[in-house]
Amino acid sequence: MSSVNITGTGMYIPAQIVTNEDMKRFVDTSDEWIVQRTGIRERHFSQGEPNWYMGVQAAKQAVGNAGVDPKEIDVIISCSITPDYFYPTIACTVQDELGADNAFCWNMEAACSGFIYALDVARSYLAVGSAKTVLIVCSENMSKSLDFTDRSTCVLFGDGAAAAVVQKGDGLYASCMGSDGRTGAALLARALPLDTPFATEKDDPKYAKYMEANDPYLKMNGRAVYRFTAHAIPNMVTGACERAGIQVEDLDLIVPHQANLRIIETAAERLHVPMEKMYVNIDRYANTSCASVPICLAELVADGRLKRGDKIALAGFGGGLTCGAVVFEW
Ligand code: UT7
Repeated sequence: MSSVNITGTGMYIPAQIVTNEDMKRFVDTSDEWIVQRTGIRERHFSQGEPNWYMGVQAAKQAVGNAGVDPKEIDVIISCSITPDYFYPTIACTVQDELGADNAFCWNMEAACSGFIYALDVARSYLAVGSAKTVLIVCSENMSKSLDFTDRSTCVLFGDGAAAAVVQKGDGLYASCMGSDGRTGAALLARALPLDTPFATEKDDPKYAKYMEANDPYLKMNGRAVYRFTAHAIPNMVTGACERAGIQVEDLDLIVPHQANLRIIETAAERLHVPMEKMYVNIDRYANTSCASVPICLAELVADGRLKRGDKIALAGFGGGLTCGAVVFEW
């Protein structure tokens, strides 16, 4: 079967650590509440490193670890919901900084599911032969989209970037993706408003799709997202395993999006998988959106915890709402 071979990973985490105790300076919260409800103990916030810079650092590390010449990269896919610019995309900036002159570069947006979707797209390029080497870069400055007066969201997120070099592999591979646009209002952030001298009908109620998105900060209905994810991870992982022709119990490791430890524990329960098989680092980084799964991978590789042939599932979910899982042999 045409699969993926992740030949290099890299990550960049801003040095500045912000503890739960530190968050008490901004909102009425406590370490106890945050740890019990989410598993988060600390997060890293940028001290000024922009999104593109973090992405470039992670990309350089991934390309170095893969041992590929940047000129061999055919495609760069970036994912981010917190870019510095709408354009040029981070992918193009990474191309420039790496000297990956032969790549074509674009950005895809599936919020926290970004890496999972990008890996599936990379696999398609590799399978049809339109690329031999794909670089995926996920970078998030979540801190700039946070309302530091809203305790229900600002304690949940962190900044970070990660990248992966993806080449063709031979083992099993399957993906299972799903989106539910009906629940879009549960997690959103506004883009530029249509506010020109010509937009005289901009306030017509028929255009009021997401009225609550009237400022640029992230808004979330935590309970609605929680309800979605409680089914999303188990369903997507089970679906991908079925398509790959394996049982969930055959998986050596599941790497879920790091949004809430309770969500990960619920998923483990529903999948009948012991927590030892669920990778968790949310305590140190909080939710870094699309960077969370590749950060986990970069850590796992650095720690030597993944062996060639291990069957792993990566699972993501987030704004859209979107969700997805890929299953493959490492
Ligand atoms: O990658 C993006 C995906 N996002 C997610 O996956 C998030 C999914 N949702 C969640 O993880 C959880 O819903 C949250 C962690 C966001 C919230 O946990 P919860 O157990 O659903 O809490 P809740 O929203 O029901 O709030 C319970 C209470 C409320 O107080 P009252 O109304 O019971 O008096 C909140 O005001 O906790 C309060 N609260 C807080 N208290 C202290 C909310 N945030 C905080 C806080 N510190 N930071």
